[in-house]
Amino acid sequence: MSKLRFAIVGAGVWGETHAYLYKEHPGVEVTAVCDLNIARARELATKFDVPNVFADHREMLKQAPIDAVAIVTPDFAHGEIAVDCANAGKHLLVEKPLATTREDVEAICEAAERNNVRVMVDLHNRWSPPFAVAKQSVDSGELGDPVSAYFRLNDIKWVATDMLPWAAKSSILWFLGSHTVDTLRWFFSDEVDQVYSVSSSGVLKGLGVDTVDVYQTILQFRSGGIASIENGWITPNTHPCVNDIKFNITGTKGMINLDLSNNQMIERFTEDKNDRPDVLVRHFIHGKAKGFAYESIRHFVDCLISGEDFLVSIQDAANTSLAILAIFESAATGKPIKVRY
Ligand SMILES: NC(=O)c1ccc[n+]([C@@H]2O[C@H](COP(=O)([O-])OP(=O)(O)OC[C@H]3O[C@@H](n4cnc5c(N)ncnc54)[C@H](O)[C@@H]3O)[C@@H](O)[C@H]2O)c1
Repeated sequence: MSKLRFAIVGAGVWGETHAYLYKEHPGVEVTAVCDLNIARARELATKFDVPNVFADHREMLKQAPIDAVAIVTPDFAHGEIAVDCANAGKHLLVEKPLATTREDVEAICEAAERNNVRVMVDLHNRWSPPFAVAKQSVDSGELGDPVSAYFRLNDIKWVATDMLPWAAKSSILWFLGSHTVDTLRWFFSDEVDQVYSVSSSGVLKGLGVDTVDVYQTILQFRSGGIASIENGWITPNTHPCVNDIKFNITGTKGMINLDLSNNQMIERFTEDKNDRPDVLVRHFIHGKAKGFAYESIRHFVDCLISGEDFLVSIQDAANTSLAILAIFESAATGKPIKVRY
């Protein structure tokens, strides 16, 4: 069987994550890399033996042989690229979030349907083993009906100050809040009806990054489920894990707790540092890409080949973005906001 021809748009940190998985997937060959920063595109293409390099995705769509595109540009730069790729008949794996404006969300959904292309958004918490096991427990009924949840998903400051040059043009709500909201929609098997959010700013602004430090938000689901969520970018850099993750779901008959950042599964002590290496998200074992960050990308490829439905539908991703837009509006106005679908 011939291989699916993939292009990667956005040759940054996460573009490389995609490249590792495509390189080892027997059903894929990467035929093009595109980045506004052509040097970055060349670097990734050289590292992964990709034949075609572009600085403009429209040129890429005209010239390169492509079946599917991974859109791995900054959060605010998914919309136009996704619509252009869908109009060119390419299947899409879009990094989270699907898009950051209602107009872009609607335009992508419309273009995907009109062109009959398949779209998945990389909301990869659904492949995280602890979340997947907890969700199986909810689905089995042993916790009863889900009633309430708590979910803290924060990053250390370094992500906003150093890792993402575009942090001030995005928000912790897009960067991690999209995982938070999608995970809870998945657990409750329901849509968010109304949100109320408050935020705090100052720490990151003081460090020269003009973005909000932290949002605390209440989500009310249509069938009555409630959740309290925190998304912040000011966890101290000394925290042993990039993320601070705490999760609880309580049902009528039971509950589950997850603490994914302090499990101390591996503690490493050297002469000059101690840390807890990641063995869950993205790592290599015997030279192969392992961890749930790769599993979601693998799932996209596998489903393109098999024709099976993606575990995350385009509607899941669209509704997640629309719920986050309501959170922004609530934090800005100080009022509860109904999500407009
Ligand atoms: N699934 C996850 O948990 C996860 C983790 C990290 C990042 N991400 C997502 O991946 C995306 C990229 O993040 P990153 O950390 O790799 O960022 P990055 O800054 O390292 O890389 C982004 C790249 O996109 C390029 N770019 C910007 N606009 C472009 C355009 N119009 N055309 C072509 N290239 C363009 C930039 O030059 C840069 O090289 C974001 O949406 C982010 O939220 C997802």
